[in-house]
Amino acid sequence: MLTLPLLLVAFFCLAAARPQAATIAPPQSTSTAKLNTLAQSIGKLYFGSATDNPDLTNTSYVAIFDDNTTFGQTTPTNSMKWDATEPEQGVFTFEAGDVIANLANSNGQLLRGHNCVWHEQLPDWFTAARLWVTTQAKYSWDVVNEPLNDNGTFGSDVFFDTLGVSYIGIALNAARAADPNAKLYINDFNIEGPGVKATAMMDLVTSLQSQGIPIDGVGFQCHFIVGEVPEGFQQNLEAFTALGIEVAITELDVRMTLPATDELLEQQKQDYQIVISACAAVPKCVGVTLWDFTDKFSWVPGTFAGQGAACPWDENFIRKPAFDGIALGFGA
Ligand SMILES: *[C@@H]1O[C@H](CO)[C@@H](O)[C@H](O)[C@H]1NC(C)=O
Ligand SMILES: *[C@@H]1O[C@H](CO)[C@@H](O)[C@H](O)[C@H]1NC(C)=O
Ligand SMILES: *[C@@H]1O[C@H](CO)[C@@H](O)[C@H](O)[C@H]1NC(C)=O
Repeated sequence: MLTLPLLLVAFFCLAAARPQAATIAPPQSTSTAKLNTLAQSIGKLYFGSATDNPDLTNTSYVAIFDDNTTFGQTTPTNSMKWDATEPEQGVFTFEAGDVIANLANSNGQLLRGHNCVWHEQLPDWFTAARLWVTTQAKYSWDVVNEPLNDNGTFGSDVFFDTLGVSYIGIALNAARAADPNAKLYINDFNIEGPGVKATAMMDLVTSLQSQGIPIDGVGFQCHFIVGEVPEGFQQNLEAFTALGIEVAITELDVRMTLPATDELLEQQKQDYQIVISACAAVPKCVGVTLWDFTDKFSWVPGTFAGQGAACPWDENFIRKPAFDGIALGFGA
């Protein structure tokens, strides 16, 4: 049985511990940088953020998104994908994509169309290779998304299985015809560091070039894990630009196993800085797009169980140390 003094000690320990625990806030950003302005000041075309139509119902979110000193570019995460634009064969609905295109236009933000050909989001009825290209794009299009397996072979899908590798050239030529001024990209993941997949992507670019097929750039998705930005990322970007194309960081986020600790948030800040510094150092790395800027609308928790906190703004739109990492990477 506890004595009264012991009870008092226990009480005071608890009383002392409680408010202390409650007042420890996670570390936050201290930078006041305007990220798009900063990116442009070192010669980049933009710093941007992806967005999706449901996000735009939150007025606090929109107020941050609309500020073109922070975001000079956007990519619609879903609403320009094929199943969103042609849910039934022959029935096209561009409204959701138009909402984002019009918002970007009124904000003075560049638009990256995403994407024309991607095996992951084809409507069920889709059984033959067909091409869809809109004329909405203002800067660039991810014409072909994720064509390669991690071992560098071409992914099996309705396009490849029907047409072989020629589907990529068909898509690029169709995109050029539909939108002569847009930069045409192939976009993929696990090509950020040197390796078989990056080599296969370079071989693909070289092969397209030798056939006279238009290819302007390669998008590096950059869905990274804290502490695991691949070695040689910058050199790899340089190897791609040496082929005579531009590169862009198209879907950046840096996820962690939850809960987010101070240490993980600090490592994440460094990871963001490494990624941004690499793009900053490569003249033909034209810009960086976050795969949404807030944890509130991140795709990560829905895809990777137990992981999250991948974005530079938290779920309450408070800027995290990662924001400072971005500013530092751009030389602030
Ligand atoms: C950025 O937004 C401001 C304020 O809305 C606007 O005046 C300016 O024209 C925009 N910049 C561009 C490049 O459109
Ligand atoms: C490459 O990876 C794909 C997809 O995982 C697999 O189907 C294929 O057999 C692999 N090819 C080789 C040569 O390892
Ligand atoms: C917008 O998101 C913030 C942060 O999660 C939330 O507090 C707020 O209630 C939301 N506002 C609307 C209108 O949904």
